[in-house]
Amino acid sequence: MTTIRSTVDPKSAGFAVNRDAMLAKLVEIDAEHAKAVAGGGEKYVERHRRRGKLLIRERIELLLDPDSPFLELSPLAAWGSDYAVGASVVTGIGVIEGVECLVSGSDPTVKGGSSNPWSTRKSFRAADIAAQNRLPVVNLVESGGADLPTQKEIFIPGGRIFRDLTRASSAGCPTVALVFGNSTAGGAYLPGMSDYVVMVENRAKVFLGGPPLVKMATGEESDDESLGGAEMHARTSGLADYLAADEEDAIRIGRRIIARLNWRKLGPEPARDYGEPLYDAEELLGIVPTDLKVPFDPRDVIARVVDDSDFDEFKPLYGTSLVTGWARVHGYPVGILANARGVLFSEESQKAAQFIQLANQIDTPLLFLHNTTGYMVGKEYEQGGIIKHGAMMINAVSNSKVPHVSILMGASYGAGHYGMCGRAYDPRFLFAWPSAKSAVMGPQQLAGVLSMVARQAAAGRGQEYNEEHDAAMRTMVENQIEAESLPMFLSGMLYDDGIIDPRDTRTVLGICLSTIHNGPIRGADGFGVFRM
Ligand code: COA
Repeated sequence: MTTIRSTVDPKSAGFAVNRDAMLAKLVEIDAEHAKAVAGGGEKYVERHRRRGKLLIRERIELLLDPDSPFLELSPLAAWGSDYAVGASVVTGIGVIEGVECLVSGSDPTVKGGSSNPWSTRKSFRAADIAAQNRLPVVNLVESGGADLPTQKEIFIPGGRIFRDLTRASSAGCPTVALVFGNSTAGGAYLPGMSDYVVMVENRAKVFLGGPPLVKMATGEESDDESLGGAEMHARTSGLADYLAADEEDAIRIGRRIIARLNWRKLGPEPARDYGEPLYDAEELLGIVPTDLKVPFDPRDVIARVVDDSDFDEFKPLYGTSLVTGWARVHGYPVGILANARGVLFSEESQKAAQFIQLANQIDTPLLFLHNTTGYMVGKEYEQGGIIKHGAMMINAVSNSKVPHVSILMGASYGAGHYGMCGRAYDPRFLFAWPSAKSAVMGPQQLAGVLSMVARQAAAGRGQEYNEEHDAAMRTMVENQIEAESLPMFLSGMLYDDGIIDPRDTRTVLGICLSTIHNGPIRGADGFGVFRM
């Protein structure tokens, strides 16, 4: 039998405590998501509507197939910064005429849809996702261009947006621009670099320089329509391939363009005959303890995520702090690596390195379920070669070529975050549960290390150590590191692709795996030198 037998007791007191804590965190996160949805707020939303325009999320909803999901990416980008939550742009993966596309659209109710440093980072991430997963790209354009006060941070790196568009085109991923409004100066290259351009009559404005700039530069008198109106571009310059009567018409034309791509996925088809997990996803709310020092069995999570709760565990008796094995999610085969008791020892590291190689041998994507405090420290472990063995795991993760998806369920600390395919290791997608925490180490450990270093330095100088000052410093540092480890902060920094409700994990993974299969799935032909 390879069906997982989960022993979680939803009636236990511990379960109820964990569940309540998770639900409380979800309420907090929902409130932040609501800020992103609210865009620039009532005043600007009202003004936008008075102008007879659709909001960005309404445009996206009309563009996607009816009742199909939209996997929004980085919805909390810019959280904790001076900019609006969401960073004035909406990005995500949605299905248009049966084709998964990367959809990106500026939110004109937030500072005229202008791009600030967080908007550009969010757009870069979206472009990476499109490129890595071979997705057609649809841009919904209405933007004031660069956020002028912060131009120094965006002008030079921001050129990537146009480069990425034409590289997508050259890689065989069609790019479509639907222009609903302003798209001037640098922004003119959004349609300029796209394969297909649709402009809304009397609304789209696409020019390198508007009338005042032209007057300043050459003395020529002009107006918006003759410089960059939709009709001019459709009839005279040829930049617009289609002239749309209104926003709905532009969206209709956009859908027809995608329908005519005759898009074919290059990855293998999923199995059609799979069952849902045998355990209720609702129970995922009560599994992660409120104190991440308390371990939990990731098999209880796997049982609620994978098809039929069916899991062939690999090397179950060896390196038991890491669970490895094979399963399927929505018919797609995956290899799973999941932390069981927090710490990674030499055995776990070697087991991971072997398992990752096996997945590459059979072209099977990998799913990393994080709950790790990092690699084991101490004399015995250093002498046993923990650095070499951790390096083997990191080598395997770095050089693995099969697609990776990471979910931060609990802790993701130190080099353990790297070995489990953290952000810098290019997982195709990385999502966090509200219970996740990630940092170089835990707040108490970090404050303790700083305190010891300061104590030794004082002793070296022959000075007395100020204990009162030390206690205050520790509290301050602990609070700071705790705040910086939380998912909203990390999501704001774009270190993940979003925070998800644990109950949605299976659905999110299904969308990710389906998206990934737009491209071919091929394992690595070789790895770096494994230190033995
Ligand atoms: N950078 C920073 N802030 C900008 C901005 C930009 N590029 N474009 C607009 N904003 C701000 C406005 O200052 C205004 O802020 P406020 O409400 O706090 O005063 C808010 O966004 C809304 O702008 P507003 O002009 O009232 O909106 P609109 O819908 O009538 O017009 C634009 C939108 C984009 C057509 C118009 O703002 C504009 O022309 N902006 C400059 C465009 C430009 O030349 N960009 C340079 C590109 S490189």
